[in-house]
Amino acid sequence: MVYQLFYRRLGIVHRLLLLSFILFLLLFTEREREREREQNQMVFAVNGQRFELSTVLDPSTSLLDFLRTRTRFKGPKLGCGEGGCGACVVLLSKYDPITEQVEDHTVNSCLTLLHSINGCSITTSEGLGNSKDGFHPIHQRFSGFHASQCGFCTPGMCMSLFSAIFNADKTGRPDPPHGFSKLTVSEAEKAIAGNLCRCTGYRPIVDVCKSFASDVEIEDLGLNSFWRKGENANGNVDKLPSYRRNEIHTFPDFLKNEIKSSTCLMSETENECLTECHWHSPISVEELQNLLEPKELGIGKRVKLVVGNTGAGIYKELDHYDTYIDLRRIPELSAIKRDSKGIEIGAAVTISKAIEALMEGKEILPGSVFMKIANHMDKIASVSIRNTASLGGNLIMAQRNQFASDIATILLAAGTSVNIHTGSERILLTLEEFLNRPPCDSKTILLSIHIPSWNPGRNTCSENGNSIKYMPMKETQLLFETYRAAPRPLGNAVAYLNCAFLAYVSRTSDEFVVVSPQLAFGAYGTNHAIRARKVERFLAGKSLTVPVLLEAIRLVRAMVVPKEGTSSPAYRSSLAVGFLFDFLRPLVKGLMVPIKDLQMKISDCDANGGANGYFNTLENKSSLGLSAKQVLEVHGEYFPVGKPTEKAGAEIQASGEAVYVDDMPSPQDCLHGAFICSTKPLARVKGIEFNSTSASKRIMTVVSVKDIPRGGKNIGSLSIFGREPLFADDVTQFAGQPLGFVIAETQKYANMAANQAVVDYDMENLEPPILTVEEAVERSSFFEVPSFLSPTPIGDFSKGMAEADHKILSSKIELGSQYYFYMETQTALAIPDEDNCMVVYSSCQCPENAQQVIAECLGIPHHNVRVITRRVGGGFGGKALRALPVATACALAAYKLQRPVRIYLDRKTDMIMAGGRHPMKINYTVGFKSDGKITALHTDILINAGISEDISPIMPSNMVGALKRYNWGAFSFDIKVCKTNHSSKSAMRGPGEVQASFIAEAVIEHVASALSVEADFIRKKNLHTFESLNLFYEGIAGEPVEYTLPSVFDKLAASSSFHHRTEMIKQFNGCNKWKKRGISRVPIVHEVRLRPTPGRVSILNDGSIVVEVGGIELGQGLWTKVKQMTAFALNRLWSDGSLDVLERVRVLQADTLSMVQGGFTAGSTTSEASCAAVQLACNVLVERLMPLKESLQQQMEVLSWDALIFQANLQSVNLSSSALWIPDYSSMQYLNYGAAISEVEIDLITGATTILRTDITYDCGQSLNPAVDLGQVEGAFVQGLGFFMLEQYETNSDGLVVSEGTWTYKIPTVDTIPKQFNVELLNSGHHKKRILSSKASGEPPLLLAVSVHCATREAIREARKEHFCNGSDGSTWAFQMKVPATMPVVKELCRLDNVERYLENMLSHR
Ligand SMILES: Cc1cc2nc3c(=O)[nH]c(=O)nc-3n(C[C@H](O)[C@H](O)[C@H](O)COP(=O)(O)OP(=O)(O)OC[C@H]3O[C@@H](n4cnc5c(N)ncnc54)[C@H](O)[C@@H]3O)c2cc1C
Ligand code: FES
Ligand code: FES
Repeated sequence: MVYQLFYRRLGIVHRLLLLSFILFLLLFTEREREREREQNQMVFAVNGQRFELSTVLDPSTSLLDFLRTRTRFKGPKLGCGEGGCGACVVLLSKYDPITEQVEDHTVNSCLTLLHSINGCSITTSEGLGNSKDGFHPIHQRFSGFHASQCGFCTPGMCMSLFSAIFNADKTGRPDPPHGFSKLTVSEAEKAIAGNLCRCTGYRPIVDVCKSFASDVEIEDLGLNSFWRKGENANGNVDKLPSYRRNEIHTFPDFLKNEIKSSTCLMSETENECLTECHWHSPISVEELQNLLEPKELGIGKRVKLVVGNTGAGIYKELDHYDTYIDLRRIPELSAIKRDSKGIEIGAAVTISKAIEALMEGKEILPGSVFMKIANHMDKIASVSIRNTASLGGNLIMAQRNQFASDIATILLAAGTSVNIHTGSERILLTLEEFLNRPPCDSKTILLSIHIPSWNPGRNTCSENGNSIKYMPMKETQLLFETYRAAPRPLGNAVAYLNCAFLAYVSRTSDEFVVVSPQLAFGAYGTNHAIRARKVERFLAGKSLTVPVLLEAIRLVRAMVVPKEGTSSPAYRSSLAVGFLFDFLRPLVKGLMVPIKDLQMKISDCDANGGANGYFNTLENKSSLGLSAKQVLEVHGEYFPVGKPTEKAGAEIQASGEAVYVDDMPSPQDCLHGAFICSTKPLARVKGIEFNSTSASKRIMTVVSVKDIPRGGKNIGSLSIFGREPLFADDVTQFAGQPLGFVIAETQKYANMAANQAVVDYDMENLEPPILTVEEAVERSSFFEVPSFLSPTPIGDFSKGMAEADHKILSSKIELGSQYYFYMETQTALAIPDEDNCMVVYSSCQCPENAQQVIAECLGIPHHNVRVITRRVGGGFGGKALRALPVATACALAAYKLQRPVRIYLDRKTDMIMAGGRHPMKINYTVGFKSDGKITALHTDILINAGISEDISPIMPSNMVGALKRYNWGAFSFDIKVCKTNHSSKSAMRGPGEVQASFIAEAVIEHVASALSVEADFIRKKNLHTFESLNLFYEGIAGEPVEYTLPSVFDKLAASSSFHHRTEMIKQFNGCNKWKKRGISRVPIVHEVRLRPTPGRVSILNDGSIVVEVGGIELGQGLWTKVKQMTAFALNRLWSDGSLDVLERVRVLQADTLSMVQGGFTAGSTTSEASCAAVQLACNVLVERLMPLKESLQQQMEVLSWDALIFQANLQSVNLSSSALWIPDYSSMQYLNYGAAISEVEIDLITGATTILRTDITYDCGQSLNPAVDLGQVEGAFVQGLGFFMLEQYETNSDGLVVSEGTWTYKIPTVDTIPKQFNVELLNSGHHKKRILSSKASGEPPLLLAVSVHCATREAIREARKEHFCNGSDGSTWAFQMKVPATMPVVKELCRLDNVERYLENMLSHR
């Protein structure tokens, strides 16, 4: 009313003015709202598809999480969540509207925050190509080179390779020949250095990568389905799926246009604040400082500054942050400036960009400080991590979290300074001062890093402004070197120790004088990298002589002392000594080797093209230098069985379309679970509470033993030997035991919440836990071994010992565990169905057992439980019984809540719960003749089986089976399967057999040492004759002609020039002090057993065929062999020669209600057994259809398959047939043979072992599919290599697993496989009782990896001979070497003080 009065009183002009003002206000408010909307909006593309997010999205959401839960692109996989496996790698592309350039690089989507990709384009493997639009040549080549087995790693591999090719093609290099990219072989080999694969052994993947390289020798590429070996190499390139550059557009036009028109995105002029201000991107330091004020943040709010967020891979986020502040848009932090004084790099600059910048510029000379820093940085993490990880983030973590940084160390030696903003001031500090400050608070910002230029010839620069002594140019030279010793040279491994040394040296007549050295050491278990000031002061101005070097080294050893609790402390100190020695040695009077002499020595010694033993040539090579050869004989007798066809489904695995359990979209209302695990081995659980955090507020319920329904049982796993509870009931039985199952709305919330659990334990009145096998013996805690599995001794041990000329009594060895490291962790999805039923999708090797356990747990009949398994992302035994508790917990939760429940275990929980391989302690006594013939062996073995039986009672028979590989004369044993309070150990590829393989070879080596003869001589001497084989393997040795081992052993020696190389190695070792080589040849005799297996074959109306089998596709190629067998077995019905039979066959996922009695997929024989079942089923179909075929053929000239099936349908012929194949008792077990020769080189300074070459010959019978079997041989060998050389699966004193992820558990990567890897599959012809004469390939070759361990031992023996005064201490020849023989283990055996001893020795001989 008042307004109306007021309005009426206004004149017309004022009225108009007022209306305009109101209109303006309305428009302004609408604009503001729009602007706000825009600011709260992010737009990006995934595979060309536009995504606009305007909802409030948790800013901690990772790109991977988003892709997998909110898009249809499931190609990127979660393998670790910590940047360590590469399964999640995608291509991220950024567009610059000014230059109109697109920048593309890989990122680990598990660590990339979704909000950080605003305005970017993401390409996943599906975006390269797919089954609908056609596959990309990368996908096709992965398939054609047989480079995808379980396929879980493959999409990530494809993206790493694609990025390498795509970026190489953008360079100005000359155009490559048609069909190739501009990638070089050396780049191709490293393209996948940050990606893990647990199945293939990498060799075929490297071939795929190389096949795109312009400088590849096409005939060097390995077995593939594009051409046959020996075919005219020149034409082969045309047979490869054609590659055309620039075919893929990584950045869609619509996004470019949006960026250009700036309707949203990437404004450089204002702070971008997304999702109700949980995500800020300030554009100046001042703005950043304001944002950090409590009034802006809110009191008590958790804020996180981020650049690449790769730090989250190291220091996991256990709770939510309220606000994220992205530093990448502050220009000062992203700038790189260069002048005569040096280079200034903004703290937010990525490591990749820093490398580029350091390599740029005219002043960059080979060997310059900048270049050496760049080279070192190139070994940090992986390409995809370096592409996002910032220099600043690294240094802040080094300063604040005591992170074992490489960057801090190398920059410290290079005299770097840093610019920080703290409080309200900017401070310039030396890096040393910065590192020495108390840990920075969350408001301290690292702005930039300044690396000074160093004049190569004289001092122009100074440290801390103090000029060092001037030397005339000609006489003064700058030396700068960086070092790191890490378990894997390239593949994502933090160093045991790193260091960098800078010094000017001047030459007097015949001596070098050190001027102002700067020596930095880090990562060895210190708070941060340090300058070794005392050593620097000691060296400064001194002439380098042996006594000076020795004294400097002693000072280093005293200074570089790891903190308490650091692993291998003495080893780390020895590395510091060794590296300083390596740096100064060429300058020390009396130690220098004239270059001329050195070169001569190299040519004399190094016929194998390896290292010269002085400079670390292997490591310095720019390429990995991988080569390989595959020899196999393809037979056509049972065509298409025997053909090396591509793996079924390999292309969809590569493109990311293959569906694994966690790729299935969540059903409506689906919940997620996470386990709370006990940290105590034997304790009463008084209660479980949760820290009050935002994560724990997300808990919906906790399922525990109390939720097991009436009539159900607390059961999580079972085997024929016993059962295991699902949850601890009152008292925990081992550390890692599930106590409860937290349910939340997402997997992330469930994981975070489970981490917040605080368990109240009470140990009162409880017996102490049994944590060692000795305690188990003391308390008689054993599992019974059923008599049918108890192996029997051979011969009379006492008699054998009496015949012996020499005896070794009670020698002890010990073996640790191994973790499966399947790339896909345990996973299941349970969906309640009508009428009290449950459908469970499980990644499992034995769905039938899962069905039984779930039914018993829920107290419902088996027919109410349907367990479905399509494919498994790697199993290796770990997805047999260990998968059952995971599926059962989901089913129980789903049953309780009547909602779908799923789980995808995080890597840490998986590692804690998995159990893994059996650790054990062994004591052996052996008697032997002077000629090397062993007359008697006795082994006492204590196996740590953990808390429940699982499959452990089979261990004694498995072990004895593998131990019998040699003729020991008499062989007796006492094997105890100890029950301990550890997680249950389970079958892992070659269970018991791998350990036995090691024991057998340890005995052989010991005997050889005792007799001072070559181990190979003892091996040969004690190989079985057919007679002794028959005695040792009674009833399963087969016919004499089937015993191929002696010929395999000799053939391999001839094909790999074993004897010649042994001589060459002797020469090499004679010439090299700090590198030694060893070579070893080992045989295997491996027993396998076949089990009954079902199969069903059905022909559909259109003539297509579906097959069901008991076996599960784990990546081992079971489906492929089954398809081939189906085609072969039905072949009498195909008159249609043109038909691609294999294309007509589809193998279906396992379904426990469709195909019963599926049993286990394990023991290497399920593929052949499944084939046998299919063959039986097909035979029935042939019988049914043959009469019809014959009668139709009389009527028609040409009878097509389709016509036959059409008629069969009309005449109601039953077109489905099932069979249960039961192996004949007499052929249930058989022996497999093979041999391997490995040659290694060890570095006596670091303890690093490089496998120079491995040759394997494996008798595969008439392989069902040589490509698949070759993949099994290579993959198994590399997995065995991990066991023998790298993988440490460790527990704390309570038995809780502490190797919790990719940071501490190192499986082989492409840089740790044999440099030359040759495999021959021997076709040993007809085996009457085998399935189409085939033999197993899944497990036996793993045992051959012991050859690497043995070769390493040989090399160490040489080192000990040289450095231990020729065995005067009695330990030169005979010593035991731990498994895995990691770098510290090798170095320890070569003596941790070998450098000091060498120098002392020199002095004493003067
Ligand atoms: C798999 C893997 C392997 C690795 N291997 C190695 C290795 O071998 N050697 C090695 O040296 N490093 C290694 N790293 C570490 C890697 O270099 C760092 O994670 C990375 O540099 C951190 O940079 P970022 O931008 O991702 O930091 P973010 O993760 O974004 O941040 C890390 C921390 O630093 C803070 N921060 C970042 N920038 C600033 C700034 N300018 N001012 C103040 N605070 C800041 C953040 O708040 C956070 O606390 C590895 C990392 C991963 C994931
Ligand atoms: S899941 Fe991202 S690196 Fe492993
Ligand atoms: S194929 Fe690489 S992990 Fe299985």
